[in-house]
Amino acid sequence: MTAIRTRMRDPGLIAAPSVDPATVRVTFEYVACATVWLLVGTLAGLIASIKLHWPEFLPYAWLSFGRVRPAHTNLVLFGWASLVLVGLALYVVARTSRVPLWSPRLARVALGLWNLALLGGLVTLLAGVNRGPQEYREWVWPLAVVLAAAVLIDGYVAYRTVAARTLPEVYVSNWYILGGFCYLPILYVTSYLPFYQGGIGNTVVQGYYMHNAMGMWFTQLALGVSYYAIPRLLGRPVYSYALGVLGFWTNLLFYPLIGAHHFIFSPVAWWLQTTAILFSVGMMVPVWAGTGNLLLTFKGGSGMVRRSYALPFFVVGLIGYGLASTQGTIEAFRTANIYLHFTNFTVGHSHATMYGFIVFIAWGAVYGLVPRLTGREPSPLAVGVHFWLALVGILTYVIAISTAGILQGLAWVAGQSFIASVIAAEPMWLWRTVGGLLMAGGHVVFAVNVWAMRPQRVVVPAPAPNAVGMPA
Ligand code: HEM
Ligand code: HEM
Repeated sequence: MTAIRTRMRDPGLIAAPSVDPATVRVTFEYVACATVWLLVGTLAGLIASIKLHWPEFLPYAWLSFGRVRPAHTNLVLFGWASLVLVGLALYVVARTSRVPLWSPRLARVALGLWNLALLGGLVTLLAGVNRGPQEYREWVWPLAVVLAAAVLIDGYVAYRTVAARTLPEVYVSNWYILGGFCYLPILYVTSYLPFYQGGIGNTVVQGYYMHNAMGMWFTQLALGVSYYAIPRLLGRPVYSYALGVLGFWTNLLFYPLIGAHHFIFSPVAWWLQTTAILFSVGMMVPVWAGTGNLLLTFKGGSGMVRRSYALPFFVVGLIGYGLASTQGTIEAFRTANIYLHFTNFTVGHSHATMYGFIVFIAWGAVYGLVPRLTGREPSPLAVGVHFWLALVGILTYVIAISTAGILQGLAWVAGQSFIASVIAAEPMWLWRTVGGLLMAGGHVVFAVNVWAMRPQRVVVPAPAPNAVGMPA
């Protein structure tokens, strides 16, 4: 076991001396809370999945499909993916600015608000109290205000930390991270403003909110954390700083206008749909600038990937980013969308992107950075079990549910009855549950690994390797 440990250990894996204990603790608290929400959100996803092929399963109003589904999406999006990335981002802004986090105490207040909103959201959604079919914004507005306050506080802490930096330049990670913190409040306010909530305007706002939450929040934070963690773990500078900046600005240029691709062939203005399709093609620039740049940073480092337990998660996440986003661009074309819209194919795309990209990057960053903070490693064997359960699980999920989507689309376009499409898709729903069970198993192992990485009372100081051109 010791041999495996030594072989798998990431380079420079000991707490760095300039990380103050307060930053360590608050970062770990974000990761730990996120992990709890991951487990609860996964359970909700599994219940929803089982109900589609076994409708009599748990026949209680509180656990009906219509309530469990938004509980799942809100928990995995805001409870897990957002919290874990915010925690890591706060660490990254401090490290790349070479200063302690501006106010760990305020960051902890924000964490309390996140948890309050998430708990309230879970209870109200399961009780059937919501704003109707407004995807990812089903929470009643008082809870949304609490969440917005948490985001603003975290954003302020990140901004003040970068403002206090001891280096002249703002490292590329911080462009992405601060960009995400600037954009989410805009989205959130737009999506809750009462005068945008009626008629076709509401549909346009829904598309704008839904896709920008993905592109201007999760993507920004995940890339920001990657631009720090990948060079750090590989011990070399990022392949091209300029490509990183190009990706940032073109993401900002193209993303805000692609929301209407969720509503192709709907009563939304035709020109707006066409613009969204064109900009979806434009999205290939930031997607491949980011994927290519970060993958090229690995060039010649395949040995390190084999020895590391964090880097394989990044490799999967980056490939997931490039491939699943390209799938999204293809799905936006009218010729493809006519078959795929309203089908399970979109659920496949959501999991390929959110899980195959964002969640794998988050795991890579947790395994890559947290042991450096706390001085404690998880068992490499357990990390391997987590990796393979998650990877085989998500592949099973995405292949099964995308096949279901294609079968549904073909049945509808051929004019068959709706029930014929249900019968065609049902075996694939069972396979989705199989994939989901593997993923859930991986999440439990991940939780054990997070516990194994919990901070010691005293952080062990160690010399920090600090190559030129590489984040500290
Ligand atoms: C080039 C980039 C991308 C393009 C062009 C794209 C395109 C699309 C399209 C056309 C749909 C709607 C399909 C339909 O309903 O007919 C969609 C849905 C979705 N996409 Fe993407 N996608 C991209 C990247 C991403 C990324 C990076 C993420 C996650 C981080 C993501 C997450 C989602 C989600 C969650 C949905 C489902 C939304 C819903 O209806 O609930 N996409 N995407
Ligand atoms: C933890 C990572 C996960 C993330 C980030 C995630 C994200 C999402 C998103 C964004 C949607 C909305 C899809 C759409 O409308 O297009 C969704 C729906 C769903 N997810 Fe997940 N999910 C995760 C894990 C799981 C797991 C482990 C399962 C278990 C099978 C699962 C089962 C479902 C189900 C059944 C739906 C509803 C799909 C439908 O309406 O037909 N998810 N999830």
